[in-house]
Amino acid sequence: MAELVWRGKALPRPSGVEVVVEGFYGLVDGEVMGAGAPGDWYNRLLHGERGLALQALQSEFAGKVDLIYIDPPFMTGRTFKNGAQILTGDGISYHDIWNNDLDSYLQWLYETFYYLYELLAKDGSLYVHLDWRATHYARVILDEVFAGRSRSKGAGLKNEIIWHYQSGGRAQKSFARKHDTILLYTKTAEYCFHSERIGQPRGEKKRNHMRKEVGPDGHTIWTIRSAGKLYTYRADSTMSLDDVWSDISHLHQKDPERTGYATQKPVALLERILLASTEENDLVLDCFCGSGVTPVAAERLGRRWLACDQNKGAIAVTRQRLLQETRRNVFALQSVNRIE
Ligand SMILES: C[S@@+](CC[C@H](N)C(=O)[O-])C[C@H]1O[C@@H](n2cnc3c(N)ncnc32)[C@H](O)[C@@H]1O
Repeated sequence: MAELVWRGKALPRPSGVEVVVEGFYGLVDGEVMGAGAPGDWYNRLLHGERGLALQALQSEFAGKVDLIYIDPPFMTGRTFKNGAQILTGDGISYHDIWNNDLDSYLQWLYETFYYLYELLAKDGSLYVHLDWRATHYARVILDEVFAGRSRSKGAGLKNEIIWHYQSGGRAQKSFARKHDTILLYTKTAEYCFHSERIGQPRGEKKRNHMRKEVGPDGHTIWTIRSAGKLYTYRADSTMSLDDVWSDISHLHQKDPERTGYATQKPVALLERILLASTEENDLVLDCFCGSGVTPVAAERLGRRWLACDQNKGAIAVTRQRLLQETRRNVFALQSVNRIE
């Protein structure tokens, strides 16, 4: 199998970690319930570096996470500042600075994927959100992590989703860069996927080579002949969604969903992913949760969640957002620290 090699490539080295519970947040708005065990299940918001947090989760959750979505730093070389909505802190959402050292970024991605693979359930799905800077590297590394370590046929890449949007400036010396890429990987061929929940209406508008006709009951139908067979579809039926998503826009500056945390993704994007790849009560993980988009979408759809970020500001925004949601479960705020 082809393999990507970089300076210092190595499997992650485990370190000692401790988890400190900072508090539990109950079902009644914002109420801190103290440090007692709050019942059978509680969601977790972890403040800590992703390597430490993912190691801390292994003992309890290895092979048990149904869906992982990550939107890591893209190696932009930039520092992202908070929007006007966030008045506290140092004004910085997060740094995406790697000193142009691709090797260390690739090693960091490799370690992240390695830990995530361990946490993912056999029938689970991993969605990795990146852009033109790193998607091609990530694919080769993910191929190694997924296909190389799994004896199961059917492991590996399922989709390369293009999230196409219109926001941002337009380059003059290249084509305007207007998409992110979301890679979908699974551990086996037996993964959860509900195309019917996220299907798009076939509609009356011509999109391809199908012929538009009127069916016997007066409804519009589309027909196409292929290999001697006639295929007929009603215009009011749904068809599975394709892998170019142009119907979810970036949050504009004044969108009420905006928290002020930089590079915030719309909840609609996560809702689509969760609806497609999870069942109610499934366990969802995001170890770069930023403004908390994944736990918020999980709460709205009745999924359980684990979320992490190393940035204090991200944890504060996420906590605040979650307290405004109608929650089904208690969540714990925990901090994860390295111990020597
Ligand atoms: C692109 S943003 C995520 C945005 C998020 N999806 C949202 O919609 O708000 C990346 C996040 O990764 C976090 N991060 C970067 N490096 C990290 C690390 N090593 N461990 C944990 N979090 C990290 C940053 O603090 C930042 O919040």
